[in-house]
Amino acid sequence: MDQSKIKQLILDRLEEGIIVLDADLTITFYKAASTEITGFDPDEAVGENLFKVFPHLDKDHSTFYKALTTGKPVIDQVQNYVNYKGKSVSILSTTIPVFDNGELVGAFEIFKDLTTVRELSEKVLMLQNELYTKRDGHKALNGTQYTISDIVGESTVLLELKNKAKKVANSNSPVFVYGETGTGKELVVQAMHNLSSRRSKPFIAQNCAALPENLLESILFGTAQGSFTGAKDRPGLFELADGGTLFLDEINSMNLELQSKLLRVIQDGVIRRIGGSDTKEVNVRIIAASNMEPNMMLEHNIIRPDLFYRLNVIYLYVPSLRERKEDIPILTNHFIKVFNQKMNKNIKGVTREVHDRFLNSDWSGNVRELENMIESAMNFTDGDHIALTDLQYYSIFGQTPVFKEKEKPEIPRGVGLKNAVEEYEKSVIISAIDEAGGNCAKAARMLKIPKQTLHGKLKRLGIKSCGEESE
Ligand SMILES: Nc1ncnc2c1ncn2[C@@H]1O[C@H](COP(=O)(O)OP(=O)(O)OP(=O)(O)O)[C@@H](O)[C@H]1O
Ligand SMILES: [Mg+2]
Repeated sequence: MDQSKIKQLILDRLEEGIIVLDADLTITFYKAASTEITGFDPDEAVGENLFKVFPHLDKDHSTFYKALTTGKPVIDQVQNYVNYKGKSVSILSTTIPVFDNGELVGAFEIFKDLTTVRELSEKVLMLQNELYTKRDGHKALNGTQYTISDIVGESTVLLELKNKAKKVANSNSPVFVYGETGTGKELVVQAMHNLSSRRSKPFIAQNCAALPENLLESILFGTAQGSFTGAKDRPGLFELADGGTLFLDEINSMNLELQSKLLRVIQDGVIRRIGGSDTKEVNVRIIAASNMEPNMMLEHNIIRPDLFYRLNVIYLYVPSLRERKEDIPILTNHFIKVFNQKMNKNIKGVTREVHDRFLNSDWSGNVRELENMIESAMNFTDGDHIALTDLQYYSIFGQTPVFKEKEKPEIPRGVGLKNAVEEYEKSVIISAIDEAGGNCAKAARMLKIPKQTLHGKLKRLGIKSCGEESE
């Protein structure tokens, strides 16, 4: 088959747009994105100067200009501008300089439409703003669902955690919460807000993994009118959370540059909107959470040590379900009660076999997994107790049962522990890459290790590298 035809077919299928420039900023190739962003056709663009087709762009804000003057790529940049047809758009772009025999000969940019994401984020901000500023005077809507009494469990480790949370709830010191996924970090953080004197003020949670970096920065700090073309004057979450609590979830996903800006705000207690000159004092309690171990984050340079120690003034560890098995029957009964009410059923409990199986299970998804499994089983239970057969339906895509009984490990006779551990590591990595569809970045996230570490392991264990890095 004709190679150029294949390339054309691939290009036609791509959602992203591509622009190629030579060193004097003349467009030599242009492929539109699947949604209309730029506002012009390829025929109008090729042969033209970049600043002619993007009349609102200037050198200070051009990623092409930056890549061509520094010779360095500009990765995952959020750009907001008014396009050729006067529409205000947002794009996420990556710009790569091109060298030929060491000489910089041009650059290309791959971009996709982010307008809808930006509009939705702004809508959420606007609604939050309305929610916190226009209270009806009856019930303080502070953005939380949970209080300390919603944290079910009687194990010593959980009671200790609840006590510690109660003790420090009223302090203004930053808090760092670590716990595996599904252990109840969100519950603990909201409960602390509701125990504090800040409870009538906003509780705002932002997942740091949910947004591209620049968008996260403008959502956190706000923007001043004209800071980029089309930018509105609007507050960020720090301003909206004034007097209350700002919960930064999955802080491990925030890039190091933004981390240093965050540190500055926490230290100074003052924010400046992006592109603005005025500063404003804010009184916000910061709670950060991560489901990656702090030591691991520090070791792999995922969190800046200065930021970590500033946040970690109060450290809360939310124990995994494996570490508090005595809570399993209590939580089981609790969730049965909750779903009895929601589903209008009258399930009395679980059978002895299910009880034993629950106690011996691994619960890698912790309380969330238990909760979801009970909800699933209760859809199938015929009798008044959840039986083993009701659990078999809890699976992903109807094939892989998530619920596994902890297996007794085989003793590695003959090969030795080191080789056995390596073999196990290899099989876990291969499964992760497989489940991530060959996407290394995704596999690394599933394994909770940095991408670089995964590449090192692939090399050391002689596993064929996964090719595709992007999402
Ligand atoms: N002690 C508990 N009592 C009652 N419900 C709980 C408890 N712990 C967790 N849950 C429930 O489990 C689910 C997961 O909890 P939560 O969202 O707080 O976990 P998380 O630690 O924030 O997880 P992730 O790291 O994935 O965000 C929620 O539905 C929550 O209501
Ligand atoms: Mg959470």
